[in-house]
Amino acid sequence: MTERTEADTVAVTVKDGIAWVRFNRPEKRNCMSPKLNRQMLRVLTDLEFRDDVGVVVLSGEGTAWSAGMDLKEYFRDTEALGLPGIRQSQREAYAWWERLRWFQKVTIAMVNGWCFGGGYGPLYSCDLAFCADEAEFGLSEINWGILPGGGATKVAVELMPMRKAMYHALMGENLTGKQAEAAGLVNESHPVAALEARVNEVAQKLLKKNLDTLKATKDAVRRVREMTYDNAEDYLIRAQEALNFHDKSDGRHIGMKQFLDEKSYKPGLGEYDKKKS
Ligand code: ACO
Repeated sequence: MTERTEADTVAVTVKDGIAWVRFNRPEKRNCMSPKLNRQMLRVLTDLEFRDDVGVVVLSGEGTAWSAGMDLKEYFRDTEALGLPGIRQSQREAYAWWERLRWFQKVTIAMVNGWCFGGGYGPLYSCDLAFCADEAEFGLSEINWGILPGGGATKVAVELMPMRKAMYHALMGENLTGKQAEAAGLVNESHPVAALEARVNEVAQKLLKKNLDTLKATKDAVRRVREMTYDNAEDYLIRAQEALNFHDKSDGRHIGMKQFLDEKSYKPGLGEYDKKKS
């Protein structure tokens, strides 16, 4: 086939509050080229503050989620341009992974197939991850002579116990979806035929919650990991006070009123009705 245009490397559909974003190079197993990396940043920028988007799901067309970095276009071709080319392509990849890590909306990786190496960057950037039992996860870098860079080593160590991370990085063997679930790379693994329905169910449940509160909570979970207890306590007080300012719906007072005065719900059993003030 003729080469895809930059805009065509990522496919987006918005439906019922969910943006379904798909890596769209199935013929190259959705490996990440500079074009795809630039397009992903554009797509995320476009979606971040849209009122009709509350949750973003990141998946892949065809048999792969992502076969990692494009060995030709990301490595070989940019190396031919020397250090400026190499740094430029790294910045383009890391820029959208970083945007995704701190994205305004909750993000879900829906790993439908192969997930290798550089794919661990966006995998970690997504707040939640669900995969197909049929998916395969691998730090294949060792198999072709590099270390798991681009954050992949950090992702393995953040998500897995040290012995599992070490084995995973050294051996270049793949994990099935169920093994990835047991290792902590994803929240849940399901047969591929049931995967989208489960992700949709989780996303719809999230959409019922206060979106400002979700953003404050997901940032807090990532931020406090590297803080002392005292610093985390202090950060969380300030994050809540910032949330009080940003949440123009005044959600927490509505939540209290619906529980304490109207007795229309119980916070221990579900969320307040954000459509009623
Ligand atoms: N970089 C460049 N091209 C790739 C990549 C990649 N990461 N992955 C797949 N492709 C290309 C293949 O070269 C092939 O291109 P061609 O049709 O022009 O020959 C096409 O995608 C299809 O790939 P196949 O290997 O034929 O697909 P298959 O389904 O048999 O195998 C698999 C899929 C296992 C994912 C295999 O393609 C593979 O091993 N890819 C590399 C995975 C990898 O190690 N990625 C790098 C991780 S390290 C890092 O990201 C830093």
